[in-house]
Amino acid sequence: MTHQFGGIWTKKKLEILESYLSAYCLALKNQSFTLHYADAFAGTGKIKNHKNPHYEPTLFSIPIDDLRGSVVTALEVKPGFHQYHFNDINPQHVAALREIKKQHPQKNITLSDRDANEFVALIVIPATLTAHSESLAVSG
Ligand SMILES: C[S@@+](CC[C@H](N)C(=O)[O-])C[C@H]1O[C@@H](n2cnc3c(N)ncnc32)[C@H](O)[C@@H]1O
Repeated sequence: MTHQFGGIWTKKKLEILESYLSAYCLALKNQSFTLHYADAFAGTGKIKNHKNPHYEPTLFSIPIDDLRGSVVTALEVKPGFHQYHFNDINPQHVAALREIKKQHPQKNITLSDRDANEFVALIVIPATLTAHSESLAVSG
């Protein structure tokens, strides 16, 4: 499943995310931290372009090519994280994330369908504050 949102700023955001996560993982690869990546607004992992017959342009939407979403971008970063936490309130989006999880059996991925505020309070904050050996990158 893909979903449509954003425009060229989304492409820019994902390029920045990829650069940041690559640098983050590289900088910490020789440290003894357990590296976590958390995305509270994970989406489906894919972003559909706006060139389909049902697309109705608005003032703020600009046609873009199909993109890897933040989830797939994070999963493909090398050397990668030890643990990925993906959350989205939309059950259909979580179902799409489940398929992505199946395609990455070697990755340690947890999925949830909470409101983002609850996800941060219940999952992200406890995971990082209770252990000194954890390092966290957060996206949305
Ligand atoms: C812009 S989209 C996905 C962005 C994704 N991080 C990416 O770049 O590929 C935002 C997502 O946030 C989810 N969402 C919206 N409100 C939410 C909330 N309160 N808590 C959790 N997820 C939410 C939507 O279902 C949608 O999938």
